[in-house]
Amino acid sequence: MSDKFISRAAHGLRGTLDIPGDKSISHRSIMLSALADTPVEISNFLPGQDCLSTAACFQAMGVDVEFAAATGKTRLQVTGHGLHGLQEPPHILDAGNSGTTLRLMLGLMAAQPFLTTFTGDASLSERPMGRVVKPLSQMGAQIYGRAENTKLPLTIVPAAGGLHGFTYESPVASAQVKSALLLAGMYADGPTTVVEPEVSRDHTERMLAAFGVETQRTGKAVTIRPVEKFTAPASIEVPGDISSAAYWLVAGSIIPESELLLRNVGLNPTRTGIIDVLQDMGANLTFENQRESGGEPAADIRVRAAQLHGTTVTEDMMPRLIDELPIIAIAALFADGDTRVLGAHELRVKESDRLHGLEVACNAVAPGSLTVDGDDFTVHGGQTLQAGQTLASELDHRMAMSYAILGAAGAGVRIQDADCVNISYPQFYPTLEHLLK
Ligand code: S3P
Repeated sequence: MSDKFISRAAHGLRGTLDIPGDKSISHRSIMLSALADTPVEISNFLPGQDCLSTAACFQAMGVDVEFAAATGKTRLQVTGHGLHGLQEPPHILDAGNSGTTLRLMLGLMAAQPFLTTFTGDASLSERPMGRVVKPLSQMGAQIYGRAENTKLPLTIVPAAGGLHGFTYESPVASAQVKSALLLAGMYADGPTTVVEPEVSRDHTERMLAAFGVETQRTGKAVTIRPVEKFTAPASIEVPGDISSAAYWLVAGSIIPESELLLRNVGLNPTRTGIIDVLQDMGANLTFENQRESGGEPAADIRVRAAQLHGTTVTEDMMPRLIDELPIIAIAALFADGDTRVLGAHELRVKESDRLHGLEVACNAVAPGSLTVDGDDFTVHGGQTLQAGQTLASELDHRMAMSYAILGAAGAGVRIQDADCVNISYPQFYPTLEHLLK
């Protein structure tokens, strides 16, 4: 793992960028295609390490995943053997750094008639899996692992009496928890309902619909019934990832004289909290070419530099922008006044403790600029930045990319273990370096 120095931009960032495929949707495109009995062509797939972990897990279960290498692995064909066609993997499945791979697959594997064991990297091994294991166990799943079945390694053995549909009131708004239960619910003996405190991203529900499986939504509850018929689409087009576009939305806003056109940004309303917050802060965003891409709304976004001001991000907004909070904190550093973020406890259980990381990094470049109070934090914007600080990514892709934008926008930073951006955005540094030239 190498360090990277990002120097301060000598001019505004200008140009047109194609936003890489959405990570959440790329995972789901492989998972559902793997359960089909006809081949599915996937385009604009994200060839990040997380999605490649998902692909490798299904390959180990007899699913044919063929990448068109000439496309840089953004196009692939997945050929499964039907809803009941997965085969017992001959080795331990490695979810790498990917919470989505592990949590969603725990739901799917709980319903299979064979044994599966998962491992993952050091970060994933410390992340809480009880939030998925507990409700799956209530459905009848048998999952065993470290720390009273809440941490990797985890082994799933066939559920003796099959899975039972039930209603689960989730204490956490998490698409990974919801999706694990929906995938298990496809194989249960009756309806499965998940009720969330706030509605989390609904990509699983949308992708299921593309495979002919309708879920029913009532407010914050979603229900799936046992699935008999699974009809695969011939092709799936993955829209661009708003979480990846977020770095450019902020860079284009806070680096003076910038103007960027971000092509093909997914605008699913369960993901657009970053747009609402930036617009609240005074960002200059325009939406062009609004359309549908693979059952999801998408558009091109033009961002022009603007002086931002502080805002308040409330707890009910968290699920719609949770992955964007690190880059929102960077935007807030460059804004006039204070930005308050309330109820950000989920930041503590991501690929790293992002709340701690932000506290250390922001206070390194501008002492006193970020204060934490329990699950809330405040960024005091508009301070003088100390250039050339070394910031630890803690192997967390979203922290590394946020620090890179911080470096380009004002401080110039050295990022430790910078390569971790390959998890979700392999072309991030080449794209930034091109814009900085
Ligand atoms: C994801 C859901 C979110 C998000 C993660 C991807 C998904 O996690 O932070 O990056 O693809 O379902 P939670 O379900 O833990 O909120």
